[in-house]
Amino acid sequence: MELCVALDLPTMEENLDLIEKIQQYPVWLKVGLRSYIRDGKPFIDEIKKINPEFKIFLDLKLYDIPNTMADAAESIMGLGVDMFNVHASAGRKAMTEVMKRLEPYDNRPLVLAVTALTSFDNEEFTHVYGETIANKADQFAKDAHEAGLDGVVCSAYESASIKSLTSDTFITLTPGIRPFGEDAGDQERVATIDVAHEANVDFIVVGRPIYKAPNPADVVEKILVALVQ
Ligand code: C5P
Repeated sequence: MELCVALDLPTMEENLDLIEKIQQYPVWLKVGLRSYIRDGKPFIDEIKKINPEFKIFLDLKLYDIPNTMADAAESIMGLGVDMFNVHASAGRKAMTEVMKRLEPYDNRPLVLAVTALTSFDNEEFTHVYGETIANKADQFAKDAHEAGLDGVVCSAYESASIKSLTSDTFITLTPGIRPFGEDAGDQERVATIDVAHEANVDFIVVGRPIYKAPNPADVVEKILVALVQ
């Protein structure tokens, strides 16, 4: 299991400061909407300057018509990131189109599909999608697998079911992790590292419990120790 640190701080300087504090650890870094809209590719370049070994997950959750999504995916190729994501609810055609467009590249990033945002509770999710999270997340995962994606973003509670429906090697990446039971914030379906372990999760994403801690490096170290136990 790998740790992916969410870079969700208010300024690029604060994000870079956080990265400098944790640069000695083998973690992935998640560049989300806020950071990418504000700081763009120069932010990615600055991260690589601190340590070119950092793996970067561009969490932009693409959702659009198939051709626009494929165009965006091809543009992402120029950024030098190692993973990005799309919404599974954009549909099988859009996901297939994205993968087809990336086929000629032998160094393409991993592509994941978002199933259900971890901030949804069942009631709100059913209001939007007309089905329970569990049913719909399974269906979205199957769609993504059939479209040739590498995995999904889901909650730790859906990971085991998704792997059994698709494949053990189909990646699950789970946000909403509160490694040692910290405050959930706006996340509805939070899980600890133990839950993630049991569900065979491949990547955990942790934001606030790291960047709001007085000593982020200590928290990262504690998490990495727990991940190999
Ligand atoms: O601070 P926290 O650990 O809750 O951060 C979780 C991160 O994962 C945030 O950047 C959030 O946007 C992202 N995320 C999520 N749920 C998803 C996909 C991404 O919380 N389904």
